[in-house]
Amino acid sequence: MNRPLAVEAIDLVKQFGDNKAVDGVSFAVPQGSVLGILGPNGAGKTTTVRMLTTLSVPTSGTGRVAGHDIIAEPEAVRRSMGLTGQAATVDEHLTGRENLRLIGRLYGLSRRYVAETTDELLERFSLIEAGDRPAKTYSGGMRRRLDLAVSLIAAPPVLFLDEPTTGLDPRSRTELWGVLRELVRDGTTLVLTTQYLEEADQLADEIIVIDKGRVIAAGTPTQLKDQAGEAAVVLTLTNAADLAAAEALMRQHSPEVHVDAGARRLIAKANGLADMSRIGNAFDASGLAVDDLGLKRPSLDDVFLHLTGHRAEEIDESDEMDEVPA
Ligand SMILES: Nc1ncnc2c1ncn2[C@@H]1O[C@H](COP(=O)(O)OP(=O)(O)OP(=O)(O)O)[C@@H](O)[C@H]1O
Ligand SMILES: [Mg+2]
Repeated sequence: MNRPLAVEAIDLVKQFGDNKAVDGVSFAVPQGSVLGILGPNGAGKTTTVRMLTTLSVPTSGTGRVAGHDIIAEPEAVRRSMGLTGQAATVDEHLTGRENLRLIGRLYGLSRRYVAETTDELLERFSLIEAGDRPAKTYSGGMRRRLDLAVSLIAAPPVLFLDEPTTGLDPRSRTELWGVLRELVRDGTTLVLTTQYLEEADQLADEIIVIDKGRVIAAGTPTQLKDQAGEAAVVLTLTNAADLAAAEALMRQHSPEVHVDAGARRLIAKANGLADMSRIGNAFDASGLAVDDLGLKRPSLDDVFLHLTGHRAEEIDESDEMDEVPA
């Protein structure tokens, strides 16, 4: 299927002094699809989004949003898109409803349309009850939802979201993912930035990975994860003396086993939870004492390490393991 493009970045460059924050980024997003821009702190995600949304002028290169050139037709670009930035932009002193009305009126939409759409959006984002309270009384998750609602008041065909769920608790994050999926189902094109492979995995049709202002990989979530390696089962023994026996047993269940003797740990290639429970059962039956058993999926850090040979800075190591606290 050859759908028309909703967003195009064409060799975008942004230079701040000596720092090339964005260094030749290109991509194309078909209408009705989701592009995830994945990268660590300082990679150039926000700068890329700011250029495409006409908030920042490219040093060179250009882009198109809904067919309009970002440099030649910034007004038309702004009419075709919504933006939810990294920092919430709602007016703290206004209520949720007032924030929506204000922005709707600023867009020049009719009073009646704004009133109707405000109700619909408050409903859609579960803000009906909080709608008449000042935004300063909202939780972080409610603010994000209001922010997103505000960016939807003019029903833009293209929506840019800069780290929409950073700082949200897991439940609010999952809820927001649900709302975003609905928007996509209704035909909205999404460009979202994130530091989480999981988020890009959940939402994106295509992902680009950027590092130091450059696109270092592009593909579907599955393609990227495959590049980064499969999941691994990580098993920690109670007794170092059991290492050899444990390794032999593990080799019956996995084609590739790595031994970290100092940590009494075995790391084995695995396909997922099914492999992990098979290995768990085998160790149970063997009588070898196990301290811990977990599944480690490729993280953003693994994707990075694989692609660049260096780790993504400022990624918390503890995020890597899918561990269930005891
Ligand atoms: N207005 C500015 N003036 C000077 N340097 C800037 C400006 N905005 C961004 N930078 C620099 O550009 C680089 C990319 O920043 P950017 O905010 O685009 O990264 P990011 O990928 O959004 O990071 P984060 O995940 O932390 O939001 C960084 O080195 C940053 O310090
Ligand atoms: Mg940013």
